[in-house]
Amino acid sequence: MATLRERGAPRALLTEQAGSLAFTALYLPVRASVGEVADSVGYPLAGARRRVLADDELLPDDAAGPIVGYVGIPFFDSAKNLDTKLTGLFTTLLNIVTLMFLLFLGLAFVAARQLTAPLKRITERLTRTTLTGENEPIPYRSSDDEIGLLVREYNAMIGKLEASRRELAAQEKEVAWREMARQVAHEIKNPLTPMKLSLQFLQKAIAERRPNAEELIGRISQTLITQVDVLSDIATSFSTFTNLPAMRPERLDVGAVLRQSADLFRQSGDEDGELRLELPPDGTTFTVFADESLLVRTFNNLLLNAKQAVPPGRPPRQTVALRAEGPHKVLITIADNGMGIADDVRPKVFVPNFTTKETGSGIGLPWPSAASRAPGAASGSRRWWGRVPSFTSSCRWRAEAAAPAGK
Ligand SMILES: Nc1ncnc2c1ncn2[C@@H]1O[C@H](COP(=O)(O)OP(=O)(O)OP(=O)(O)O)[C@@H](O)[C@H]1O
Ligand SMILES: [Mg+2]
Repeated sequence: MATLRERGAPRALLTEQAGSLAFTALYLPVRASVGEVADSVGYPLAGARRRVLADDELLPDDAAGPIVGYVGIPFFDSAKNLDTKLTGLFTTLLNIVTLMFLLFLGLAFVAARQLTAPLKRITERLTRTTLTGENEPIPYRSSDDEIGLLVREYNAMIGKLEASRRELAAQEKEVAWREMARQVAHEIKNPLTPMKLSLQFLQKAIAERRPNAEELIGRISQTLITQVDVLSDIATSFSTFTNLPAMRPERLDVGAVLRQSADLFRQSGDEDGELRLELPPDGTTFTVFADESLLVRTFNNLLLNAKQAVPPGRPPRQTVALRAEGPHKVLITIADNGMGIADDVRPKVFVPNFTTKETGSGIGLPWPSAASRAPGAASGSRRWWGRVPSFTSSCRWRAEAAAPAGK
């Protein structure tokens, strides 16, 4: 009988095959005790003492009896092998799950993008939607889904918005026309009465053959020409519906403009009224960079306000003064002996359309302030204060030079 040995030990672990079934078998030798009698073929005799050796037990060569047989213990994979196989199985499963997860993640991303793309487009359009500008409808092919409904609603809203925009524009134009008409009426009305009175005064001077009639004609006609120019500008801008006369700032002597306006109101004043002009001595010019029409219209309103502020029965007295205030500023004050200005009225005088007069429009003070701050107006700041029982309005212009002429 062949001896099975493995690494010197009389036992062996063999991988075997039975048909398609692979298994492992452990072979262990069975020995006879020392002195045990064996028959002729090596088997122990009946009654002989036998002992199977433990797995890891090695019999000392001298203690071991002769091998009387082998025990074969077949078994399938070991626990370690099973563990390895299970680990492999789990790894494969995990890989498949991870792959599937990544695949679904990708699919979900693509699907989400496809779903949100139209929504994103709608959001972009909504952000660009304006009340005043042009809005385009969103083209969207499939119109039966939820997004299609949304797009349809948006497009309908754009249509309505466009209609209201056109309506609003028409209304705005109408309001602008009305506002402009009010302003034109105000600008025409202000100098018209003093102009008429000036002409009547001139007629009277000529009829009475006053010695200074010629000088009066020259001065009054110059004043009237300036006023007519202003009126003509206003009429032109009204007919072309541009804004009221565009600012054309130029270098001019503010003292001369003030004198002309004051003259117009002085000539037309009541016989017992008084308008005192406190201008710098002859030969001194105050050059400002401003629009002449703006100056004339501002002075007209201030002079008329001063006149209107005086209650009936009181002889009106106005003092119109011009003086340099620092090297680059001129201060113009128009003081009257009227009722002054109430504390609750004072903060409102620059509010457009605020007036305490029955026939007033309330644009006399706010308009020049706004116009002088408009780009290109090149006028200075203005300040107003009142004192009971008189009121002084004042305005400042930035002077380019405040020096006697000829220097
Ligand atoms: N010299 C003044 N004395 C007292 N109150 C004044 C004087 N100047 C202006 N005010 C007050 O300021 C208000 C506004 O004046 P503003 O010139 O803007 O308009 P208005 O004179 O009423 O009308 P208009 O548009 O015809 O000039 C006046 O209604 C008046 O109450
Ligand atoms: Mg006024």
